[in-house]
Amino acid sequence: MKVTVIGGGSWGLALSTVLHENTHDVLVYDTNQAIVDKINRLHICYQLNADIPKQIHATNDILEAVNYSDVLLFVVPTKVVRSALQGVNTHLNTPKLFINAAKGIEPETFMRMSEVFYDELNADYIKGFVALSGPSHAEEVIQKMTTLITAASRVEADALYVQHLFHNQDFFRVYSSTDLKGVELGGALKNIFALASGLIAGKGLGDNARAALITRGLVEMRKIYEAYGANIESLLGLTGIGDLVVTCTSQHSRNYQAGYKIGHGKDLEATLDSMTMVVEGIRTCEAAFNYGKQHKLDLPIINAIYTVIFDKVDPEIAYQTLFERRRKKEL
Ligand SMILES: NC(=O)c1ccc[n+]([C@@H]2O[C@H](COP(=O)([O-])OP(=O)(O)OC[C@H]3O[C@@H](n4cnc5c(N)ncnc54)[C@H](O)[C@@H]3O)[C@@H](O)[C@H]2O)c1
Repeated sequence: MKVTVIGGGSWGLALSTVLHENTHDVLVYDTNQAIVDKINRLHICYQLNADIPKQIHATNDILEAVNYSDVLLFVVPTKVVRSALQGVNTHLNTPKLFINAAKGIEPETFMRMSEVFYDELNADYIKGFVALSGPSHAEEVIQKMTTLITAASRVEADALYVQHLFHNQDFFRVYSSTDLKGVELGGALKNIFALASGLIAGKGLGDNARAALITRGLVEMRKIYEAYGANIESLLGLTGIGDLVVTCTSQHSRNYQAGYKIGHGKDLEATLDSMTMVVEGIRTCEAAFNYGKQHKLDLPIINAIYTVIFDKVDPEIAYQTLFERRRKKEL
């Protein structure tokens, strides 16, 4: 098979490596000429400072990228997904299968990424849509370390197709799911709790606090799943608890790193300026906070993180506010 990968960053190139390993041909499209050159000339993933196979080529010619294959895998930050889709849409002339690996919810519309795809693309050229998500840091996948993720689509045949494309028996195991909503929400929401987990670590609050965050974070995710009409069983899967655990405990997580710096007293702008890679949790936090308000959901952790990030409330005060809430039943 041939696959076009839109976005030659850390996750785009890690997934390209898996596809190459599975004997598929890959063309990477990136708007950044320096990234394209590093892929073609040095055969490296610049963001991870890691080698990639020489057979993976890159271009910044969108027409070449769109015409290269009938499978377009999007791996760009969620804030540019719309504009990237607009760029692709004008060149579509045959139906394509769209796969998205970006994790987020659009703050202005509360749309999941699949909804953004259907909003921007000419429906005549959408052969199918599949979300790829799960506990997977590019740093480990690019080194072919054991990883399990999920391919989800409302159309089971499309999920199975993408499962087949990425699955191998060496290090990359892919499950299929038809709960597109749950899979997309899990991948997006966990980033908010990764920020919180980094804050907890930055404040030196310890492992008990982190375990409590993961558990009570899951409760807040459940409320949002229910409001969106997602299958809450997905919370028990790779894209639910799986991704939540890895992102709240791994130092590879950019969201965790950002939270850690804020917890250490660095302000948000300085933190974001110091990060070379995308911190998706901030936009998703804004989306979840406003969605919760609109749907009258009780989301104390998300609200606390929102006040720290957007209202510049001292993390110490946000923490105190969480503790001063009335006593409650656990379930
Ligand atoms: N890094 C990971 O381990 C990982 C794992 C799972 C999911 N994700 C998700 O994947 C998405 C991308 O993350 P990343 O870590 O690869 O980011 P990154 O910052 O490493 O790379 C993003 C790349 O997209 C390119 N880009 C920006 N706008 C573009 C456009 N319009 N068209 C084509 N390319 C464009 C940039 O030049 C950059 O090379 C995020 O939503 C992230 O949450 C990342």
